[in-house]
Amino acid sequence: MSDTVIQVRDVSMHFNLMEEKVDSIKEYFVKLIKGQLLYNDFVALNHISFDVQKGDILGFVGFNGAGKSTMLKILAGVLKPTSGTVKVKGSVAPLIEVGAGFDPELTARENIYLNGAILGFSKKFIDERFDSIIEFAELRDFVNVPVKNFSSGMYARLGFSIATAVQPDILIVDEVLSVGDFRFQQKCEERIQKMIKDGVTILLVSHDIGMIERLCNKVLWLDHGKMRDIGAVNKICHAYRSV
Ligand SMILES: Nc1ncnc2c1ncn2[C@@H]1O[C@H](COP(=O)(O)OP(=O)(O)O)[C@@H](O)[C@H]1O
Ligand SMILES: [Mg+2]
Repeated sequence: MSDTVIQVRDVSMHFNLMEEKVDSIKEYFVKLIKGQLLYNDFVALNHISFDVQKGDILGFVGFNGAGKSTMLKILAGVLKPTSGTVKVKGSVAPLIEVGAGFDPELTARENIYLNGAILGFSKKFIDERFDSIIEFAELRDFVNVPVKNFSSGMYARLGFSIATAVQPDILIVDEVLSVGDFRFQQKCEERIQKMIKDGVTILLVSHDIGMIERLCNKVLWLDHGKMRDIGAVNKICHAYRSV
């Protein structure tokens, strides 16, 4: 019996891009009052509908600007779609942008507690997992360093380690793994493989089609905001590779 955990119906996302160049705040307000500001309505997602079943590992492919991150942000509740509906059942651990949710002035230790709180974990809960979070992120020597001094790889390691310290129902991973080095990517892949075995539902964006093929059972192909196709991993990746 299938168990739908994500239901996306007719979702569109429009962004208003200001077309006109304005040289000053004053000019902006003058034009605003006169109704002379021109906006360009940009459609980042165009009537998207799909379902995700419990335990699905859904990959997203598509060129830069296709709308992958926008779709994941909507599923994570970070963005509200312009129209359409999204239903998500269960706890979501979103790994969306490198460093999102970190305060650069705070140390790694402080950010672990801050991020944990954002994800809804109590202090005691994090106390118990603190060492394993630091261990997995390989940041033992950097616990008391403000994260503004971290490389993007260190950010990614810390973010992944915190978000996966507890098994969520749904894990969302948007490219963050690509900034880590090869060995850390492997470690993350192993942790994701374990989650797959445990039945966690995963949404994954990666430029590494090989990783999509290794991990996913289904793939959704976005093309200029439209859903070009959704289906079995082999079929979609093959078609995507040959465009
Ligand atoms: N906050 C925003 N304001 C305006 N345009 C945006 C915003 N976020 C994304 N876009 C635009 O929407 C399109 C899709 O972006 P995105 O979802 O990041 O694509 P992808 O992740 O597939 O590369 C891009 O053209 C991007 O410039
Ligand atoms: Mg993106």
